[in-house]
Order: sequence, then C-alpha cells, then structure tokens
Amino acid sequence: MSKSLPRLIEVQNLKKIYELGDNKVIALNRIDLTIDAGSYVAIMGPSGSGKTTFLDILGCLSRPTAGSYRYKGEEVHKFSEKRLAELRNHEIGFVFQNFNLLSRATALENVELPLIYDRVPRKERKQRAEESLSAVGLQDRMYHRPNELSGGQRQRVAIARALVNNPSTILADEPTGNLDTSSGESILELFDELHSKGHTIVMVTHERDVASRAQRIIHFRDGKVISDEWQK
Ligand SMILES: Nc1ncnc2c1ncn2[C@@H]1O[C@H](COP(=O)(O)OP(=O)(O)O)[C@@H](O)[C@H]1O
Ligand SMILES: [Mg+2]
Repeated sequence: MSKSLPRLIEVQNLKKIYELGDNKVIALNRIDLTIDAGSYVAIMGPSGSGKTTFLDILGCLSRPTAGSYRYKGEEVHKFSEKRLAELRNHEIGFVFQNFNLLSRATALENVELPLIYDRVPRKERKQRAEESLSAVGLQDRMYHRPNELSGGQRQRVAIARALVNNPSTILADEPTGNLDTSSGESILELFDELHSKGHTIVMVTHERDVASRAQRIIHFRDGKVISDEWQK
C-alpha cells in the first residue's frame, strides 16, 4: 500500500502485565522494536517468553498495559475498540498453530467469515473466498469441512482466510507447529511467496530451520528482546 512508509510497525517501551488475583505476570517488559514494511521476521524464544502476547498486541487482539504501538504511523495504543477491530480486519491476517477453523463450516465458509464481519455482499464474498482458496491451491476442496482435510490443507484454509482481505501484514503463531515436515515445508513455501508479493510477515517459531526462512530473527526471553539479527 505505502512504499513511502518503510517503518510499518513501531513499538516503544511496550509492557504487558497480566494480573491474576494478587499475582502479576510481566509478559512483556519494555520492548522496543521496529519492523519494516515488506520484511519477514521470525520470533523465537522459550515457552512463556512473551511471543504470543507480542503477536496478539501487534494483531490488535490485546492491548498493551503501557508503552506505544504505532502501525503505519498511527497510534494504535490510543485506538477505540471499533478502530482496533477495523485495523485488525483490514490490515492483519492471523495464522495460528491449531488453525482455529470453524469445524461445522466448509473451507469456503471459513474463508468468507472475515468478509461477513466486513459486510461484503454475498456474491462478492463467495468470489473473493474462492480466489483466496485457489491462491493456496485448494480450489478442489472448497466444500470440504476441516475434518475432511489434512493438517496441511487446514492450515492452507486458515491462510486463505488470513489473506481474503488482502492484509499488509501476516502474523503467524507457530504455523507449522502441528504439521509434519512436508506439510510444514509447503506452508513455509506459501509464506515465502507471500513475502515476495510484498506482505510483511511476523512469524513465531520454536524451530531454527523454520526461522532461517526469515530475513531477521528476534529472540525473546522473560518478556525482553535478547537478540535481533539480520540473516545473510
Ligand atoms: N491471558 C493470560 N493471563 C495470565 N497470564 C498470561 C496470559 N497469557 C499469557 N500469560 C503469561 O504471560 C507469559 C507470556 O506468555 P506467552 O506470551 O503466551 O508466551 P510464549 O508465547 O512465548 O510461550 C507467560 O508467563 C504466561 O503464563
Ligand atoms: Mg505462544
């Protein structure tokens, strides 16, 4: 969308604290990061280091306790719920480890869902969902339900759903974590392709091999960034 804005995402002094009764968990502890438009970033780190919390904030699924989050220069941390939902729906595509598909709905219906929230008319909805499923190679599985698809195919449906609004940014939380090596590889090839088409990708992964597909690898530990390396 905007070639003139290389700095797509900028967080400063970002903090997230979960309070459970008397217990406080500092999930993110003063994160400062910028992510350029069109870049492919992997986030690694041990379980509990704050990776999912960070992705959820970038994706407007959750708000920071303190600090700032700018997206395309806009101060997202000050957004109303309505504007957060709009940003999430138009700019962000989410891909999860467990696919998060509606089990009773067909692949097509799952992919149409973001367009229903967006009140896109039925005919256009179907057409765009079909295009999105074709783009991930599932043109002959549109009427299958998740339990009639392999893990790799389910993740493709989830990616088609993430892409149907043509978001600038794809956020993926361990997208290959539940897949065998070869299905995982085909999902990673899809991400490579999305990156080459100009999407910005931020992907959480446990696996070094998977992370090495990205241009930049950021390590989290205890809610902090402990390393940030660009790959050759
Ligand atoms: N909804 C929540 N309520 C309370 N604590 C949470 C919640 N989500 C995550 N946490 C805690 O925040 C820390 C970071 O979690 P998370 O972001 O899920 O880490 P990661 O994705 O790196 O495993 C952990 O200590 C976790 O237990
Ligand atoms: Mg996690």
